[in-house]
Amino acid sequence: MGVGIIGIGTAVPSRVLTNFELEKMVDTSDEWITTRTGIKERRIADNKTTPSDLGAEAALKAIEMAKISPEEIDLIIVTSASLEMVFPSMAAIIQNKIGAKNAGGFDLLSACTGFVSSVITGAQFIRTGDVKTVLVIGTEVLSRFIDWEDRNTCVLFGDGAGAVILREVGDNYGLLSWSLHLDGSGADLLAIPGGCAKYPCSEEVLKNKLHYIKMNGREVFKFSVRVIGEVTEEALSKAGLSSKDLNWLVPHQANIRIIEAGAERLGIPLDKVAINLQKYGNTSTASIPLALEELIKEKKLKDGDIVALVGFGAGLSWGSAVMRWKEI
Ligand code: ACO
Repeated sequence: MGVGIIGIGTAVPSRVLTNFELEKMVDTSDEWITTRTGIKERRIADNKTTPSDLGAEAALKAIEMAKISPEEIDLIIVTSASLEMVFPSMAAIIQNKIGAKNAGGFDLLSACTGFVSSVITGAQFIRTGDVKTVLVIGTEVLSRFIDWEDRNTCVLFGDGAGAVILREVGDNYGLLSWSLHLDGSGADLLAIPGGCAKYPCSEEVLKNKLHYIKMNGREVFKFSVRVIGEVTEEALSKAGLSSKDLNWLVPHQANIRIIEAGAERLGIPLDKVAINLQKYGNTSTASIPLALEELIKEKKLKDGDIVALVGFGAGLSWGSAVMRWKEI
């Protein structure tokens, strides 16, 4: 059974934070951020907006595009790297906000690989025939987990959300193959260590800023450059395809240099790669749907196109999902 995307929606806060504003906050420059990352600006949520607010807004837009009602959703999968609370799940909070009265659901956590993992998971539920309609949401208010005095991290991340509706889309369309990987030996390279069970909230945690994103940028960079092409090739080969068949690569929007290296490894030109990190920075689980929605809105995706989503990040985790696009 072919399972694919029948609706997509996104939400970003209106507040734009530019590189020039960051120049006044930490010892950095627009030139450094642009050449090292490709990012020019990012969106930042106001104090009252939570990840579930952005997630619900994106979900309602996806529901509208799919021309379904919230009551038709059977399962909600929410993925995030900036949780609203440890519990309840954001799936439950968003279920209530959008009136998805008949839905079950859960949160699926895999940092920046979360959107790819969630689309793959949702598709399996439909393939078994147990459910018909799945809502997948990636949503972030990462700005709450950033040390705004740490130039190594504060220039990279932004807030936003993206949601898709999954349903049967006809044979030979939708998810063709996938590949997921973990390597927990790299767990310390990228983490928000404090505030949960290992380092519960304490004065010590606050003093050492363990409730903020900690990253070994150089090591994460090397890992990302290695896996982005590797895992996409692996997923393509499972469908009997190669990078020559790829019409669009939709990568996690972490850094333009990582994306360029991935495209080079795959031997595809950058005009086959969805890139919008210059506007939003790294929005973790939201970055793939934010980039995918632009391709759809700009009518760049054609019926039958081969599209590979590829995510990578904390865990370490990485994965790719290959689809044959069914025009919405
Ligand atoms: N402005 C100016 N200088 C800076 C800044 C900044 N914002 N940040 C770091 N520097 C300095 C460093 O301190 C270092 O100075 P030093 O040599 O005196 O110590 C110098 O710039 C060079 O640092 P490098 O780490 O070599 O810079 P690099 O070219 O690797 O770029 C970057 C750094 C952009 C963080 C890069 O390593 C990167 O993109 N890593 C991956 C990050 C990432 O994608 N993370 C998320 C992926 S997973 C997920 O999304 C959760």
